[in-house]
Amino acid sequence: MPSKKSSNHNLAVLIMAAGKGTRLKSKRAKVLHQVGGKPLLAHVITSARQVVPAENVYVIVGHQAEEVRAAVAHMGVKFVLQAELRGTGHAIMSSRDHVRQYENILVLSGDAPLIRPTTITRVHDFHLSRKAAMTILTAEPHVPIGYGRVIRTSPSSDTVRAIVEQKALTKQQEKLKEINSGIYAFATRPLFANIDRLTTDNAHREFYLTDMAAILVKAKARVVAMKADDPNEVLGANTLAELAELDAMLRAAKARELMSAGVAIYRPETCVIDSEVEIGADTVIEPFVQILGKSRIGSDCHIRSFSIIRDSQIADGVQIRAGCIIDQSQIASQVVLGPYSHLRPGSDIAEGAHVGNFVEVKKTRLGRGSKANHLTYLGDSEIGANVNVGAGTITCNYDGVNKHVTVIEEGAFIGSDSTLVAPVRVGKGSYVAAGSTITDDVPADALALGRSRQTVKEGWAKKKRGSGTGNR
Ligand code: UD1
Ligand code: MG
Repeated sequence: MPSKKSSNHNLAVLIMAAGKGTRLKSKRAKVLHQVGGKPLLAHVITSARQVVPAENVYVIVGHQAEEVRAAVAHMGVKFVLQAELRGTGHAIMSSRDHVRQYENILVLSGDAPLIRPTTITRVHDFHLSRKAAMTILTAEPHVPIGYGRVIRTSPSSDTVRAIVEQKALTKQQEKLKEINSGIYAFATRPLFANIDRLTTDNAHREFYLTDMAAILVKAKARVVAMKADDPNEVLGANTLAELAELDAMLRAAKARELMSAGVAIYRPETCVIDSEVEIGADTVIEPFVQILGKSRIGSDCHIRSFSIIRDSQIADGVQIRAGCIIDQSQIASQVVLGPYSHLRPGSDIAEGAHVGNFVEVKKTRLGRGSKANHLTYLGDSEIGANVNVGAGTITCNYDGVNKHVTVIEEGAFIGSDSTLVAPVRVGKGSYVAAGSTITDDVPADALALGRSRQTVKEGWAKKKRGSGTGNR
């Protein structure tokens, strides 16, 4: 992988992220829409940070500035406010005082998330080697419609005359296939010496950064183009359909990366695996599995269809049977889950434990080798090692106002269909008889019965039927 990070003041990366994203028809700012489980902007920052240190990355915010800032503040970048949204050229004007001390700046679009650090570095190298005032990263996608087109001085030359936006293309220019990616390198001195020449004389009445190409050419500065190897890398997302395409590409790439590291994924096109997920070798993922957020899964696990895992840590050799939902939980090695277990936030399942069919667990530690195999709710509980939780057991953790804790000590046996009314403690090695309602603590090694004694009325049924009615 990359990269040479220049930590001096020669190079800054500027990410334009102030736009509204009108074409998405969404309340949320475009750069906050997610692909691969992460906001568009976060992908771009991740790449930028591999080229320059985070303190030299400047994000231009405007529309929903506070939300955008909050979403990526943890990434250590700086922010520039574009107070009025007057176009990409205006975005760069707004950043003048923040970045003029750098010799060169790389401009990225917050809505083009697939850009790789190696490509950013190549643009920078090309820019320096050509001693250019402006370098434009271009591409030739299958469908160039909607993008600005790059007009070279001649097809074989790397010098550029102008960029023409889609709406301003002449019939002849509509045939041009080479698009402007919206990613550029600029030498700051000529950029800021000429940027005030931008006008809003265009279809959107905005300052277009793309017009800098013709302006710099007129000022006798060098403007060059460098074509990306892979046109997919510079795809921008302006509509929800385009977002869905980018998302599919990112997820396919993620699945390929995992498979090349020894993870078997059956029908990868049906699985949804977020960018930051880590999975160990020899783990098998069946079709229609979702693994989201910052989940980490060990080696030799088997994750069966229709399971959804979010922000959870799963150790080695874990079996996750069909249809489990696991959220913000910790699963130790050799655990068996499901089918249809629901692990809500704060579930901590220790080594070798089993959680079975239709069992819901929340904020609960289930000790080593313990089992809760059928139809159970365990909430706000601390359960020791080798405990057997019988079918249909319920921890009654909520009194309508507060939540209370249930403690079940090591080796206890909870008979089926018991309700444990918290706060309550079942002592080490003790038994709770099936069908009990336990409201008082049970000492170690005891048997607790919390149900009425059975009465048997001999002959009652026969008498009720009467003799000789012929019903039975
Ligand atoms: C832009 C280019 C187009 C190029 C395309 C590549 C211009 C005029 N056009 O068009 O040539 O082919 O990108 O994807 O630049 N932004 C701001 N402040 C603003 C306006 C936009 O920060 O005032 C940001 C947006 O948030 C976005 C980026 O700049 O991240 C690009 O803006 P967008 O409106 O998507 O430009 P395009 O129409 O895609
Ligand atoms: Mg765009």
